[in-house]
Amino acid sequence: MPDNDSIVKGKNFGIGTPQKTEGYFLKGSSHLDWGVKDRLSRVFSPKSGHSVMLAFDHGYIMGPTSGLERMDLTITPLIEYADCIMCTRGALRSVVPPTCNKPVSLRYSAGSTVLTDLNEECVMDIEEAVRLNASLLAVMVAVGDPKHEGLTIRNLTKTIDLGMKYGIPTLGVTAVGKELVRDARYLSLASRICAENGAHVVKTYFCENDFEQVTNSVPVPIVIAGGKKLPEKEALEMAYQAIDQGAAGVDMGRNIFQAEHPIAMIQAIRSIVHEGNTSDKAYDLYQTLKNEQ
Ligand code: R5P
Repeated sequence: MPDNDSIVKGKNFGIGTPQKTEGYFLKGSSHLDWGVKDRLSRVFSPKSGHSVMLAFDHGYIMGPTSGLERMDLTITPLIEYADCIMCTRGALRSVVPPTCNKPVSLRYSAGSTVLTDLNEECVMDIEEAVRLNASLLAVMVAVGDPKHEGLTIRNLTKTIDLGMKYGIPTLGVTAVGKELVRDARYLSLASRICAENGAHVVKTYFCENDFEQVTNSVPVPIVIAGGKKLPEKEALEMAYQAIDQGAAGVDMGRNIFQAEHPIAMIQAIRSIVHEGNTSDKAYDLYQTLKNEQ
């Protein structure tokens, strides 16, 4: 404890120089609290404004899907190339090394499986997210699903309320039911609804036509899910188109961990997301890297 004698009178008050106030690099995020911004800036690179999120939470509804049978063998080697990992608390505690030092987008809603009734979900305790040091809380939102729309929007709202108590932002994940079309009209409606309800980031799908309308009509960053496995060249083209049309990143699973060469694939994706590579250049990189492995 310093005593009074050691307190030296201050001299440098910078009188005449207004205090600097830094802006914030993410769309729609300037007015958020410090803890929320700190977490978001670990998920998204302040340099590029973008993020490569590696999603491997599929097991919570699908069980041991292809590529995730042994996450210790297939996912752990990919983690170092991701900016953020999206997974369940089960995967975190059983497989993900706590020393990996990556921000976690925690699968925060759950409650049903592919065998029964998707989107019949609840959310977990916020203390669990704090214990796991989550940087994002991922919640499924089923807009247009007559049975689950209300429930899942309430899950989103509750998560945002809980997360904001602790400075943890929420990722609204748009679920597209079998009978709904993944077009710009639907995706912008569902994504906008997530943002208006307070989601800090929205995860949705890419669509071939007018994706720019989706990113422009949503006032917060959008990341795209990869969806079902595509040939590598097509997946890279989708990532390129999404970034080129305003997405802030990808939150991609199967198109990375089911790729023929997952480590080469995630690096090729990174080159698009962070370095602005075209899909042709990224594919060349993929070919080079896969031959080195
Ligand atoms: C979506 O909510 C799932 O939980 C996955 O995280 C998501 O679909 C991303 O994975 P993929 O790129 O395989 O679609």
